[in-house]
Amino acid sequence: TDGGTIPRDMTLSMVPVDEDATAQARILIKGGKVVNADHSFYADVYIEDGTVRQVGKDLITPGGAKVLDAKGMLVIPGGIDTHTHMQMPFMGTVAVDDFYKGTRAALAGGTTMIIDHCLPQKGEGLMDAYEKWRGWADPKVCCDYSLHVGVTWWGDGVPDDITTLCQEKGVNSFKMFMAYKGLFMLTDDELYKSYSVIKENGALAMMHAENGDIIEENTKKMASLGITGPEGHLQSRPEDVEAEATTRSICIANQVNCPLYIVHVMSRSAADAIRKARSEGKVVFGEPIAASLGTDGTHYFCKNWRHAAGHVMGPPLRPDPTTPGYLMDLLANGDLQLTGTDNCTFNADQKALGKDDFSKIPNGVNGVEDRMSVIWEKGVISGKMDANRFVAVTSTNAAKIFNMYPRKGVIQVGSDADIVIWDPEATRVISKDTHHQAVDFNIFEGMECHGVPVITISQGRIVWEDGELHVTQGAGRFIPRPLHAPEAYNKILIRDKVNQPIKVEREPYDGPIWTPDGPK
Ligand code: URP
Ligand code: ZN
Ligand code: ZN
Ligand code: ZN
Repeated sequence: TDGGTIPRDMTLSMVPVDEDATAQARILIKGGKVVNADHSFYADVYIEDGTVRQVGKDLITPGGAKVLDAKGMLVIPGGIDTHTHMQMPFMGTVAVDDFYKGTRAALAGGTTMIIDHCLPQKGEGLMDAYEKWRGWADPKVCCDYSLHVGVTWWGDGVPDDITTLCQEKGVNSFKMFMAYKGLFMLTDDELYKSYSVIKENGALAMMHAENGDIIEENTKKMASLGITGPEGHLQSRPEDVEAEATTRSICIANQVNCPLYIVHVMSRSAADAIRKARSEGKVVFGEPIAASLGTDGTHYFCKNWRHAAGHVMGPPLRPDPTTPGYLMDLLANGDLQLTGTDNCTFNADQKALGKDDFSKIPNGVNGVEDRMSVIWEKGVISGKMDANRFVAVTSTNAAKIFNMYPRKGVIQVGSDADIVIWDPEATRVISKDTHHQAVDFNIFEGMECHGVPVITISQGRIVWEDGELHVTQGAGRFIPRPLHAPEAYNKILIRDKVNQPIKVEREPYDGPIWTPDGPK
């Protein structure tokens, strides 16, 4: 059934129900260990019509239910990838993982929901872009999805569109850029205004934090030195350029007490900036990605151009080899909260647009399929986090911060049946030759990972089993997300009260005032 497409003129409920589908409507997962973010327990899980109906010991098998033996397995909430760019038009080309191939690969890796980015062109209405992205995604997605919308320019209509998206379209997160000068970059005053409108609506601001002015000057410097290869990408965007923007974006958001989410945390110093802000009580969240947790920036110096270019993304991976471990430490102890991938993939011929000029190499790497295994390997197998924290950073915290909890991110009665049966002992070796993504390269090539999703259940249907996909194009749903996520706004509202500007009531000054002709 892989790749089955729902004809355009049919709604999901009109799709003919085959026997396989009927059996799939009822599933009993028996004998596994349910792992939620707060605790683990041995229980059976009964699913019907896409929803978890019962969780308990020794459940009776209802008639017609398919029974899955999960002895020795962990039963975990499906992963939520907070950061993808499927089929995104970018840097003169289009990301090769589209909403079909990308979500299909996600499911093979144990991720049952993605939050993608709708990024308007300069001057394009945010609502128009939103409708365009829905038009691209809805017919293709194999798993549930949602959209962050980019505030990629500032001007008439933008504040109204933000409000409409919040009030009517189920968007509660908006992404801004401090980099990509001339394309997406906003100035500090525009950021201030964006944060204000986002805060007024009860939404979350997200930031690509890199100083775009400095990157532009550094890029010219690299060119003047004759450095045209991928190592120039790294050297034009050093770590402090990321850290500075991270600190500045936190500062600006704090002026209007807007909750802030830093996407793709790539460096020790950017992570430290987030940690410091959180220790001061600011409402800031940090998202390291599979790439920054699983590999490093030494590859930019590789002699093989395609290999080096395959790692080009912004902000770059860091050449300090202690970086991935450090980010994992912070993720494990709570200073960083959740993980995405920034999956934005380009084939060799697309990367080659920058073969003589690194600034033209389309930025982006893979991750949507491998994130769960990479984090299990580098986080759990390494002894840095337990299985509960793994669930927290791969799904639960995403569901809370983006306000989909407890529909997503937990296995409990009433939750969506997005579930993974996870074999904690099995191993697999990551490779472009076996992955399900459309791209011809994998930044984790050759990595052996313990922790394998043996079965993935999406909306109560088995979509990945025994190494085979059984997906349906367009079966994924757009998940609207309500405003005022408690995870952010409970504290924001308290801070609004205690941080009211102070006005001093005093007698007016009634003495002389300076004039050119003397005091009057
Ligand atoms: O290199 C990256 N990160 N590509 C995707 C666009 C973005 O900046 O998130
Ligand atoms: Zn970005
Ligand atoms: Zn390398
Ligand atoms: Zn991104």
